[in-house]
Amino acid sequence: MVLKIEPLNTQKHIRSDFCCGKDSLDNYIRKQASQDLKKRVSTVFVLIEDSQVNILAYYTLSGYTVDITALNEDFAKRLPRYPLLPATLLGRLAVDNRQQGRGLGELILVDALKKSLNASTQVASLAVIAEALDERALNFYRKYGFEQFKQEPMKLYLPMKSIEKILN
Ligand SMILES: CC(C)(COP(=O)(O)OP(=O)(O)OC[C@H]1O[C@@H](n2cnc3c(N)ncnc32)[C@H](O)[C@@H]1OP(=O)(O)O)[C@@H](O)C(=O)NCCC(=O)NCCS
Repeated sequence: MVLKIEPLNTQKHIRSDFCCGKDSLDNYIRKQASQDLKKRVSTVFVLIEDSQVNILAYYTLSGYTVDITALNEDFAKRLPRYPLLPATLLGRLAVDNRQQGRGLGELILVDALKKSLNASTQVASLAVIAEALDERALNFYRKYGFEQFKQEPMKLYLPMKSIEKILN
């Protein structure tokens, strides 16, 4: 199976069948993603099988700011004392139910991290932030080195420097 990750194209990709088991993520790709794209609120990338149009997985990226006091001290102490610092939000990431457990989550996560790292060479960003909807998602992100925010444990961050190391 040849897989491709490409920007969501609402004229091409079929969104109505996508089902990952989380209503908010299913509704997002079906109903909201095209608006967010159009309004430049986030970019949306989809994983498809080459020559097919059904979405197997997707993720979104956008700019974000983090409050320095929300970060763990050992990371924050090496940062300038600006109240808000630039970051990249991996707002949503989901794999269709029928495709879970085959490595596609990892595939799109790595792609999202690569894109974030590349973009950060043009517009600075010190970390990728992800929001976990449940314990399962939390464990998934922690497996790749994401750390939990001090006050908001369902929100996680992975420093861009760590991403650079992982990808190299
Ligand atoms: C979480 C999710 C993205 C994982 O995708 P997936 O395609 O099933 O995951 P993969 O097959 O790529 O697994 C990658 C690795 O993560 C591990 N993993 C997957 N789910 C995990 C979990 N809940 N806890 C710990 N590790 C997990 C896998 O075991 C695998 O590691 P291994 O290679 O060492 O075995 C997917 O289950 C999903 O879309 N869930 C519903 C939506 C959701 O919760 N999204 C995330 C946050 S918004």
